[in-house]
Amino acid sequence: MKSKLVEVQQLSTDKQEALQKQNAELQAALLQGQTIERKRVAADLHDSLGSTMSSLIYTVNAIDTNNLDNDEKNVYLHLKQMLDTAYNEIRLLSHNLLPEEFEKQGLAEALKHFIRKINQTKTIQFDLSIDPQLGRLSPQVEFELYSICLELINNILKHSKATQAQINLSAPALRGSDRAADRPNGELKLVISDNGIGFFSNESDGKGIKNVKARVESLNG
Ligand SMILES: Nc1ncnc2c1ncn2[C@@H]1O[C@H](COP(=O)(O)OP(=O)(O)OP(=O)(O)O)[C@@H](O)[C@H]1O
Ligand SMILES: [Mg+2]
Repeated sequence: MKSKLVEVQQLSTDKQEALQKQNAELQAALLQGQTIERKRVAADLHDSLGSTMSSLIYTVNAIDTNNLDNDEKNVYLHLKQMLDTAYNEIRLLSHNLLPEEFEKQGLAEALKHFIRKINQTKTIQFDLSIDPQLGRLSPQVEFELYSICLELINNILKHSKATQAQINLSAPALRGSDRAADRPNGELKLVISDNGIGFFSNESDGKGIKNVKARVESLNG
């Protein structure tokens, strides 16, 4: 009787291990699918919309403004400015949806690279601080955190009218030589803030914040 029980227990442990393995394989396949899709969107955005925008800018620059009256000149300048902004946004996004640094070196290096580029080209100064003890996290966690940062950084650039912003990623529970990578269930804290106008209303047809919430939930946050 006892040996039967042990047998059943063993069977159930085997089953559990098999399920866990399957689950991990599914997660990895899902992440790979997301990665491929993300690269495709970045390439499409860059090649099609990006080049359409640059030929639009080229065409608009060719307009002879000498014959325009003052109002028309103002409209022309405004149009040029909007085109430049849209073009720069597309470039920033397409270059950073899934940058090489992320694939080769992971979240922290990709964020450092992204922030360095923004600080060189934009008026908002970003301050990035990542707990040095954090180490590498699981691929899924890094992917979701990078995606969240990308959207919130874009929101700051688009909406905040800020001059300064902070991104802070830490693991509050880390002590001594504990590395987050060794503790896959460890809590992570990501705080992204800016000194801009702030936002109060929940009514927006934007998808960004909704996606961020879904990503946080997918990480059990
Ligand atoms: N850093 C910020 N400062 C001020 N307002 C913000 C900031 N981030 C978001 N908002 C406001 O919250 C709204 C919702 O943001 P959300 O990212 O969901 O949508 P969106 O950026 O307008 O569009 P999408 O993300 O779909 O391109 C924005 O339209 C904006 O009004
Ligand atoms: Mg947004």
